[in-house]
Formats: sequence, C-alpha cells, structure tokens
Amino acid sequence: MKYLLFQPEELDELMRFLTANLDESYKPEVFLKIQSQWPDGFAIARRGGIIVGAACGALLPGNKLRVLILVLAPEVQRQGHGRKLLEMLMAAGRKRGCKRVALEARVDSAAVKFYRHLGFSSVDLLPCYYQDGGDAVVMERLV
Ligand SMILES: CC(C)(COP(=O)(O)OP(=O)(O)OC[C@H]1O[C@@H](n2cnc3c(N)ncnc32)[C@H](O)[C@@H]1OP(=O)(O)O)[C@@H](O)C(=O)NCCC(=O)NCCS
Repeated sequence: MKYLLFQPEELDELMRFLTANLDESYKPEVFLKIQSQWPDGFAIARRGGIIVGAACGALLPGNKLRVLILVLAPEVQRQGHGRKLLEMLMAAGRKRGCKRVALEARVDSAAVKFYRHLGFSSVDLLPCYYQDGGDAVVMERLV
C-alpha cells in the first residue's frame, strides 16, 4: 500500500472511487477546494496503482481538525489502513497546532465502532444530517 498526498490531477479517479464507496454524493469542486485550503490534510491510499482509500480534513478555528472524509474500499478494510490514514491526518493537524479532532459518523454504523475503538467519544447528535435523512453522531478526541 502506498500513502500519498492527493494531487488535483487525480480528481477524476478520486471521484470514481468516492462515488463507488460512499453513500453521499459530492461535487468534484469541493475536493479541489479542500485540497487547496490544506494540501497536507488530504491523503489517498493506492494499491497496485489504484485508489483504495482517501482521507481529508479541514483546519477549524480553536485549534480543531475536522475529518471530512475517511473511506477505504471494502476489500482493504480491517487491515489497518483506516487507522494509518487517520493518523496521517492527525499528524498533519498536530503540525498546524491542532489540539482536538472531530468528525461526523452515521449513528449505529461500523464507523462509530471504529472511531470509539480509536478513543473518540460522542459529543453531539445531528438529526437528519445525511442526504437520506439519517442521523449523525459528532465524535471527538485529542489529536
Ligand atoms: C470505518 C473505516 C474507515 C475503518 O477503516 P479500516 O481500515 O477498515 O479500519 P482499520 O483496519 O484501520 O481498524 C483500526 C482498528 O479499529 C478496529 N475496527 C475497525 N472497524 C471496526 C468495527 N467495525 N468495529 C470495531 N472495531 C473496528 C480494528 O479492529 C482495528 O483495531 P486494532 O488495530 O486494535 O486491531 C472503513 O471500514 C471504511 O471506510 N468504512 C466505510 C466508509 C465509512 O464508514 N467511513 C467513515 C465515515 S465517517
């Protein structure tokens, strides 16, 4: 597995990967904006040259890092790559002075169990947060 910083010229491939692996749909320009605002906070994982994972975040006021996307293709899940991408993002955040990391995850999802396992606590609930009306839980921990 190779972990690399996302480059804007990879946008089409990234969008194909995200569309295949996420429930939510996003406009491509969003990812160019995220990358331009904090290039070190946008990583991808490639296996055999193909994108199989992505993670990106944003720096918020109050020394907070927000994880915007963290997704691995099903065939590479539960092999430590999600943890690795999240650690890359948090290490980049620490370099920029972040003290806390926050994210949203779908209530009762496997992702909540993953984040809880990594030391995140639930701090808030966002009703109807997702496009299909599903609720999100806000989770946080120290970076
Ligand atoms: C959630 C997700 C990012 C986790 O990444 P991953 O690569 O599968 O997880 P890892 O292999 O890095 O797991 C790291 C640790 O969390 C644990 N873990 C992972 N998934 C878990 C789950 N569903 N329940 C309990 N523990 C879990 C692992 O056992 C591992 O623990 P260990 O190192 O102590 O053995 C990934 O499965 C995924 O992309 N899921 C689909 C998309 C998604 O839900 N994204 C999050 C939206 S916010």
